[in-house]
Amino acid sequence: MSIVAVWCRHKGDNIIGAGSGLPWKIPSDTRRFRNLTEGKIKVMGRRTYEGMPQKVLMGRKMIVLDIENSCDVFDKENHIVLDNADKLKDYPEDLYISGGASVYAKFFTTPAIMPDIVVDCVYQGEIAPNLTDLINVNASVEVLEKKYFALPQKFELDNVITTVWLKKGDFVEQSVVKNILEYLETEGK
Ligand SMILES: NC(=O)c1ccc[n+]([C@@H]2O[C@H](COP(=O)([O-])OP(=O)(O)OC[C@H]3O[C@@H](n4cnc5c(N)ncnc54)[C@H](OP(=O)(O)O)[C@@H]3O)[C@@H](O)[C@H]2O)c1
Repeated sequence: MSIVAVWCRHKGDNIIGAGSGLPWKIPSDTRRFRNLTEGKIKVMGRRTYEGMPQKVLMGRKMIVLDIENSCDVFDKENHIVLDNADKLKDYPEDLYISGGASVYAKFFTTPAIMPDIVVDCVYQGEIAPNLTDLINVNASVEVLEKKYFALPQKFELDNVITTVWLKKGDFVEQSVVKNILEYLETEGK
């Protein structure tokens, strides 16, 4: 089983969100997330889940983290609610950690469920100056820089540079890495 974290953060300040939404509109970034996680189980915090358009999540396998266990999922066949991320230790299938900041922080700081692979997309452009309630992944990036190493390949599309990082000193499932790199190599072509 592999745990893969996927995010898009802003260069410099590591911002990933504004309120319950994204601070930018980059269709190729949305497409990358969709394609990399197609058919996979995504793990998402309640706030991110509720902030995403239902049509994007409908029919896609999802574990929604919600301590209160009260989140009302709209696709009962594919979306399940879980009250504690620790229960995902030794989960039988690959998991794609999809935010938001509190969920990334939980996974990056809990050794038993720390991601093996990180798809680190970094937006190089400006974000609108009037946005409020900005949310960053500084705590997770700090762990990333200490406990992971970056593969040499860099993929650039629409002002987003993507790097894949692997956890140092642990076995990482190479077939999962290969699939991610193969997708990134062909994207936008
Ligand atoms: N740029 C990107 O790549 C990206 C990706 C995803 C999200 N985002 C952005 O991130 C922001 C949301 O992040 P956020 O940190 O505010 O919220 P979040 O992580 O999406 O959701 C927080 C909620 O998830 C539940 N939760 C968190 N950790 C848990 C755990 N360990 N066990 C069980 N439940 C847990 C709690 O729900 P309860 O309060 O109900 O218990 C918590 O209030 C939004 O702006 C979104 O757009 C950006």
